Amino acid sequence: MISQATIDTVFETARVEEVIGDFVNLKRAGSNFKGLSPFSDERSPSFMVSPAKGIWKDFSSGKGGNAVAFLIEHSHFTYPEAIRYLANKYNIEIEETELTDAEKANTDLRESMYLVSEFAKEYYHKTLLKSEEGKAIGLSYFKERGFTPETIEKFSLGYSPETWDALTKEALGKGYKLEFLESTGLTIAREDRPFDRFKGRVMFPIQSMSGRVLGFGGRILTNDKKAAKYLNSPESDIYHKSKVLYGIFQAKQAIAKLNNCYLVEGYTDVIQFHQAGIQNVVASSGTALTPDQIRLVNRLTKNITVLFDGDAAGLRASIRGIDLILEEGMNVKICTFPDGEDPDSFAKNNSHEALVAYLEANSKDFIQFKASLLMDEAKNDPIKKADLIRDMVFSISKIPDRIQREIYIQECSRIMDISEQVLVSTLAQLKQKGEIEETKKHQKEQKAFQVVKNENPAAMEKVDILYRLERKIIEILLLYGDKTEAFEDTFMRTNPDGEIEMVTEMKEYKVFQKIYLSLQEDEVELANPLFRAIFNDLIHFYLQNDSFNLEQYLMHLQPEFAQEVTDVLMEEERLVMHNWEGQNIFPKSKTDTIVQNVSETILTLRWYLVGGIIESLKSTIAPDVDNTESMTLIQDYNSLILAFSKKLGRVMSRF
Ligand code: CTP
Ligand code: MN
Repeated sequence: MISQATIDTVFETARVEEVIGDFVNLKRAGSNFKGLSPFSDERSPSFMVSPAKGIWKDFSSGKGGNAVAFLIEHSHFTYPEAIRYLANKYNIEIEETELTDAEKANTDLRESMYLVSEFAKEYYHKTLLKSEEGKAIGLSYFKERGFTPETIEKFSLGYSPETWDALTKEALGKGYKLEFLESTGLTIAREDRPFDRFKGRVMFPIQSMSGRVLGFGGRILTNDKKAAKYLNSPESDIYHKSKVLYGIFQAKQAIAKLNNCYLVEGYTDVIQFHQAGIQNVVASSGTALTPDQIRLVNRLTKNITVLFDGDAAGLRASIRGIDLILEEGMNVKICTFPDGEDPDSFAKNNSHEALVAYLEANSKDFIQFKASLLMDEAKNDPIKKADLIRDMVFSISKIPDRIQREIYIQECSRIMDISEQVLVSTLAQLKQKGEIEETKKHQKEQKAFQVVKNENPAAMEKVDILYRLERKIIEILLLYGDKTEAFEDTFMRTNPDGEIEMVTEMKEYKVFQKIYLSLQEDEVELANPLFRAIFNDLIHFYLQNDSFNLEQYLMHLQPEFAQEVTDVLMEEERLVMHNWEGQNIFPKSKTDTIVQNVSETILTLRWYLVGGIIESLKSTIAPDVDNTESMTLIQDYNSLILAFSKKLGRVMSRF
C-alpha cells in the first residue's frame, strides 16, 4: 500500500491546472483557467479549473473534484493508480507501508502474476514481429485479415511458436517463477517437464480497464475441426472471464467521450472496428453478458448498443443480456447485421462512412428490436403475439426509472397496437408477483422526502425550499465553518423573583459548532440523504482537526460528494462563466453578513425540519388509541415553531 505520507506529498505537490493541462487545452480566465470539456463535445468552454481552490468543475456534465478525481474520471484510473501517476509526474518517491503478512503475500502473488503476464505479452509480440516463424505464420495471417502494423501495436497482438516450451523456458531463464507461470495458466505443469499452454497460435492479450494484462486468447491458424478455434487463459486470481471486456482499455476514452459503447462478440470484431475508425467498442468474448461486465461499461457511459451477427440463432441466447442492461438502469439499443455478416466482416468490407451510416440507421431500441425479431412469426397468431407483448413488458419491468418505463409502455402500446391501460396493469401484475424488486436503498432514499412530497404544487415548493436551505448549510460549512463569530443565544432561566424568563446573550462560536448544536437541539437531521452524508462528513472533519483547511478537506473528499461540493465551491465561477454579472444577479460579497446569513439559514431550516416532524406526528394520530404522547410532542414542537417565527421576525404561514 502507498503510505499516507506519500499520498500527502502528492496532494501537496500536484497542481490541478498542470495535471489537467496535460489533457485539456486550458486558457487563463482571471484567476482561473477554462477550456473545452473533455467529457462532452462542446464548442464553447464550460470546463473550469481553479488553481486557488485546487479543484475543477465541468459545468456541462456537473462533474468536478480535485486533481486525483480528474484522473479517475478522465483516464479511468483507480485511486492508487492516480496517486502513482502523479508521483511519477512530480518525481515523488513512493513509500510503501507495511502490509500484514497475509495481505502482502496476496498482493505479491497477484503482482507477480501481472508481471509474468506482461512478460508473456511482450514475448509473444516480439515473436510475431521478429522471429522467422512468427513473421511467416502469425504476421502473414494478420496481414491477410487486413490488420495494419498500427493495429498490431495498439492491441499488442502476438504469436506463440509451435514448440513445446518456448515461453516457459524463456521466462524461467529471465527469473520468473514457475509458480506464477502456472497460476496464470501460461504454463502447464507436468512433473517431468512443464510445457506451454499456447502453441502455434496468434495471441490476443486481454487487458483490464487500466491496461494490465490479465490473460490471453489464442486463435488457431489451421482448419482443424477438432481443435477449438480459440484457446483462452484459465480463470485465475487475476483473470475472471465474467468480469472483463475485451478492448475496454483501448476503448474507454472514446466510450466516455462519445457517450456510447458498442458491444460485439469477438476479438476480431473489436479490432476491425478500430481499423474502421470506430473506437468505442468492446467484446464480451463469446460468452453471455454478465452484470459485472455491464457495470464496467456503466462507469463510462449509460448507453450500450449491442451488435448482433446476421445469424438469428445467436440472437435468442443474447436477449437475456438486454434485460440485464436495462436492470442496471442503462439504455440499450440493438443493431443486427445482414445475413452472413458479422461486425468484423461488415467493417472490413465497407467504408467508415458506410459503417457509421449503417449503425445509425439500424440501431433500434429494445421494443422495436423485439417487435421486428418476433413479429414475423407472431403476426397472425394471437397467442404468440400475447407472449411477445408479455415479453416486452417483462423487459420494461426491469427498468428502474419510472418515467422511462412509462415512455416504453407508450411505445409498446403504439407498436403492438394494444391499449396502454392493459400494459400498465400487466406491468403492475408483474410487480405484484415480486418479479421486480426496487432496491431497499432506493426506497429509503425516497422516504426522506415523502413527508413533504405529494402532488400539490405548494408541497413541491416546500421540497425545493428545503433543498435550497440544506444546500446553503453545506455552503456555509464549506466556506465559513471555521470562522468564529458572536451569535445570539436564547435560553430560559429563573430570575431572582422565581419567575422563568427568556434571556438573550451574545456568545462566540465557530460557525460549524453553532450549526451543529442548533440541529442537535431539535434532534433533526438534514432530509436529503446526500446532503446529510456531506454534512456528517464535514462536521466529522471539523471535529477531528484544529483548524479547517479546505485543501486538506478536498484531498480526502469522497468521490460521491465531489459533484455537489464542487458545485458549491465553484458557484461564482459558474456565474462568471455565463457572464451573469452584467445582469445584476452576481451575489454580493458573502462575508459581511455571515452571522445574519448563518442565523437565518439555521433558523429557517430548523423551522422546516421541525415542521416535517410535526406533519409526520400528525399522521400517526389515529382514533380509538391513546394519542397523548404524540399530542404533547406536537404541542412542544408547535411552540418551538412559534419561537422560530418570532425570532425570524415574520409570520410563518406554511401549513
Ligand atoms: N470464443 C472462444 N472460444 C471458442 C470460440 C469463440 O473463446 N472456441 C470467443 C472468442 O472470444 C471469440 C468470440 O468467442 O472472439 C467470438 O467467436 P467467433 O465469432 O467464432 O470468433 P471471432 O473472434 O470472430 O474470430 P474469427 O473472426 O477469427 O473467426
Ligand atoms: Mn466472428
